[in-house]
Amino acid sequence: MASDSASDSTDPARRVAELRAALARHVEAYYGRDRPEIPDADYDRLLRELEDLEAAHPELASDSSPTQRIGGAPNAAFSPVTHTVPMMSLHNAFDVEELQAWYERMRRRLDGRAPESFAVELKLDGLAISLRYEGGTLVQGATRGDGRVGEDVTHNVRTISDIPKQIDNAPPVLEVRGEVYMKLSSFKAFNELQIAQAQAAGKKPKLYVNPRNTAAGSLRQISAKVTAGRDLSFFCYQLSLVEGAPEPVNHSDALTWLGSLGFPVNEHTCTLTTMHEVEARVEELDGMRHDLDYEFDGVVVKVDDLDLQSELGADAKAPRWAVAYKLPPEECTTKLLDISVSIGPSGQATPFAQLEPVFVGGVTVGTATLHNEDQVAAKDVRPGDTVIVRRAGDVIPEVVGPVLSERPEGSAPWVFPKDCPVCGQPLARDEGAAATNCVNFGCPRQIRGRIEHFAGRTAMDIEFLGEKNVDLFVSAGLIEDVSDLYRLDFDRILEMPRFQKKSVDNLRAAIEHSKTRPLGNLIFGLRIPEVGQVNAALLASSFQTMERIMDASAQDLAAVEGFGPVIAEAVQGWFANPQARELIGRLADAGLTMEVVLSDSTVEPTLAGVSVVVSGTLAGFSRDGAKEAILARGGKSPGSVSKSTLALVVGADPGASKVNKAEALAIPVIDEDAFVELLETGALPEGSA
Ligand code: IVH
Repeated sequence: MASDSASDSTDPARRVAELRAALARHVEAYYGRDRPEIPDADYDRLLRELEDLEAAHPELASDSSPTQRIGGAPNAAFSPVTHTVPMMSLHNAFDVEELQAWYERMRRRLDGRAPESFAVELKLDGLAISLRYEGGTLVQGATRGDGRVGEDVTHNVRTISDIPKQIDNAPPVLEVRGEVYMKLSSFKAFNELQIAQAQAAGKKPKLYVNPRNTAAGSLRQISAKVTAGRDLSFFCYQLSLVEGAPEPVNHSDALTWLGSLGFPVNEHTCTLTTMHEVEARVEELDGMRHDLDYEFDGVVVKVDDLDLQSELGADAKAPRWAVAYKLPPEECTTKLLDISVSIGPSGQATPFAQLEPVFVGGVTVGTATLHNEDQVAAKDVRPGDTVIVRRAGDVIPEVVGPVLSERPEGSAPWVFPKDCPVCGQPLARDEGAAATNCVNFGCPRQIRGRIEHFAGRTAMDIEFLGEKNVDLFVSAGLIEDVSDLYRLDFDRILEMPRFQKKSVDNLRAAIEHSKTRPLGNLIFGLRIPEVGQVNAALLASSFQTMERIMDASAQDLAAVEGFGPVIAEAVQGWFANPQARELIGRLADAGLTMEVVLSDSTVEPTLAGVSVVVSGTLAGFSRDGAKEAILARGGKSPGSVSKSTLALVVGADPGASKVNKAEALAIPVIDEDAFVELLETGALPEGSA
């Protein structure tokens, strides 16, 4: 964006003109079309640059500058509504110093007096709405527009269930302001529906990039039917006008009153007395940014005393009695250098963006996921594009979409590669599935993936065999499958640069030691489809030897408690493969444990062959921990109660269906103390049977 990025131009008048033109374009995209081209943070930066230039060069200031204007022009498709009280914007503070500077400016205006308390609220990321009630009936809903004249969206506002249509005990005239927003869960569901509908119609889905624009686009519809299908929500944050009833003294009193009339007030709103407390609260709210089902991009601090608010007044754009503390941006723009495909440990081919490194969401991001082929197509991002990158909280960075106005000429849509970038064999995508896979069992990436999983802590727990060593050994041709670990040529390894005698001895001992791992760990390590840790332990305890598992029919397998036909077929199918059987043969020859060895266990097999079901939260065991304790004693712990269940253990909040079933089948229902006794002795405490 030549005109957007900081210009080399030392001519302030030229830069001011450039910035005004760019900002006018972005205002139209954001407010006019609900489809901003750039992240809010980039917009804020341009606006701040213009504000600074106008402050340094007062001769360049102008009433029509974007720095003096609120929002965008109202759309002529809606009837204009002249606001009784102008709908203003808020001044921003981007750090604690700017927050402090706002407070100091205010004190100077008050000749040194300090406000006694502040209301601190979330800056909700939606769009502002003004609601007018006459005689308790909602008569008008209007958008902010340019602050003076907004758009009449009454028909759409009426479809939002959070907004009262009729109020009891209302004054003759009441005007309330607040934010219409879309919950994150509703936004996700909405975009998923867009994809499903587009796929069904054989069209390209039109995805919305964030809940804010979806909310704005949904409210500014000609047809209320469209709005009604969008699941919008509302929080009120201001009483703007009341006639025929006493005016509240404080803003916080006004919100409490509005709450009592039936308006939703955000639960994280509070009042505080010092700026010190305000700063601490800002930090606290920042920490909650990803815990809520809606987005907020800042914290609004307001002087609570309404008389003091009037005394402070406003400038052309925003009140002096409030400030929006903007949280660090989680979206920014950067160049998409290329799109590559990475192959995961089980062969999944995931497209990802290689980016010009950019600081966003608190870290420098150089790559970002593009999820799958459909997502790249839906977003239509192309190498060379300027793209919006988002990193929210601990979530992996993702590319939101391209900045179309910045697209280089002659670019073409990206095409998913036909072959695996690791082994060169064709990639495959199952009909109806989103994922593309490398299906070559011998693909080096998959070999590495299988070995890393096998050696992992929850499987064979082979210390000193980290990802780097696996990579090295696979590349050197020393291992092709997990059985090769037990035939490693340690002399060759000793010749490798990163190894010394001690490290080789450690590795050899760790591999040797892994031979004694229980059968359940070995089964889990083989990465059989549908077989996680719990199912692996169930297979071991149900069949006791690897040989019996290998020879089990799908019917035998389906009889394992908690297994169904899908798991049974997956296991049977895996063991039916001659290559798998040969692998097991090699592992057995190497001396790995191929049966359940109870005598080696540190615990007694008190529950051999019996099944104990656990439901609810126990104080002394995690969910998996309770299962493991049962399995370690030779028992089974399926997910549901049947007539062969020995007992149902209940913790806090147990599942009602399990308890009902146990009672119907006269299965003993025991508490945690009785469970501990059962584990130790294999017997149910007296009176529980
Ligand atoms: S008070 C005169 N409180 O922020 C002050 N605004 O940039 C009126 N917003 O148009 C606004 N959460 O859409 C206020 N708790 C909150 C808010 C909030 C979000 C939005 C609102 C407003 C914009 C100003």
